[in-house]
Amino acid sequence: MLVDGKHFRTLWLKKGDDRIVQIIDQRWLPHKFVIEDLKTTDDVATAIKDMHVRGAGLIGAAAGYGMYIAALTGVPLDEAAGKLKATRPTAVNLAWACDRQLKAMDSSEDKIEIAKKTAKEIADEDAEFCRKIGENGLKIIEEISRKKNGEVVNILTHCNAGWLAFVDYGSATSPIYAVHDKGIKIHVWVDETRPRNQGARLTAWELGQHGVPHTVIPDNVGGHLMQHGQVDMVIVGTDRTTRTGDVANKIGTYLKALSAKDNGVPFYVALPSSTFDWTKRDGVKEIPIEERGGEEVKYIQGLSDGEIKTVLLTPEKSAAANFAFDVTPARLVTGLITERGICEASEKGILELYPEHSES
Ligand code: MRU
Repeated sequence: MLVDGKHFRTLWLKKGDDRIVQIIDQRWLPHKFVIEDLKTTDDVATAIKDMHVRGAGLIGAAAGYGMYIAALTGVPLDEAAGKLKATRPTAVNLAWACDRQLKAMDSSEDKIEIAKKTAKEIADEDAEFCRKIGENGLKIIEEISRKKNGEVVNILTHCNAGWLAFVDYGSATSPIYAVHDKGIKIHVWVDETRPRNQGARLTAWELGQHGVPHTVIPDNVGGHLMQHGQVDMVIVGTDRTTRTGDVANKIGTYLKALSAKDNGVPFYVALPSSTFDWTKRDGVKEIPIEERGGEEVKYIQGLSDGEIKTVLLTPEKSAAANFAFDVTPARLVTGLITERGICEASEKGILELYPEHSES
């Protein structure tokens, strides 16, 4: 997508030196645009664990390049895959990308070349699938716009499922960019998404870069807006969706889904097929939920006198718990928007689009 008019992906191989992976270091956004060089598999693992890069799609693409660097630098591939997979537990794209690379290199003489090719394929596919999600999701928003006689369609989103969470386009934001570019009037309610504020920092930044009208709101406001008819649809991303349609996403998504159900507001989840976990059925019981350090809750980062500073929010001695994701049961999901089309959040609906994954 465009940053100050120039096209960027979230990661790429350095021009003139394809042994180095370059990323947008998202820790400093929206106040500083920092490009970081990743030269070792450890660099990639740290970038994922400490969230220089984050979001399921991008974590997968970064892991794909992390395996390429492992082949390049002679790191044993199983060791590299183990190290990368151990960085964060919830986004299924991470293990999916590592396993895709292991399989590709297993049957190849020139492991470096096949790893480089596979990493590029994973990244290109991620971008293309997100572009297609945009085309498919556009129809839903257009339909609401038609019903509102072209009046502004108010869309609520949680966390950042934008191009910053993928290689390009985004999942939840892709239909939003598509309808905006088509001149359909929309406005986005952006949940700040405590404690790391991916909505307030990243979603607001990328919507602003694209000229999409938006308003940042505290996470607890969405239900009130729905009760007062100010939300026409909710669209979010996911880090892992089961074969039955249970959806793991940023903490707070489940509460938004409950409010949407209670107020008859359509609740859509956008995802590329790389985010389905075909081995899992009961999301609440089976999906591993990441717990991160309490310091992310107790301290908050922002711009002060031109500098990015971190300040203590809570009493020093207070304990803090930091569950990073929750699971929204399929019964609360209106539909899944994928690169192959839109389906019901159920095994039957999902297998209609992905029959190759039927267990029979
Ligand atoms: O902790 P993060 O920033 O990696 O969490 C990201 C999300 O929960 C996104 O909504 C999700 O990844 C879907 S978009 C890929």
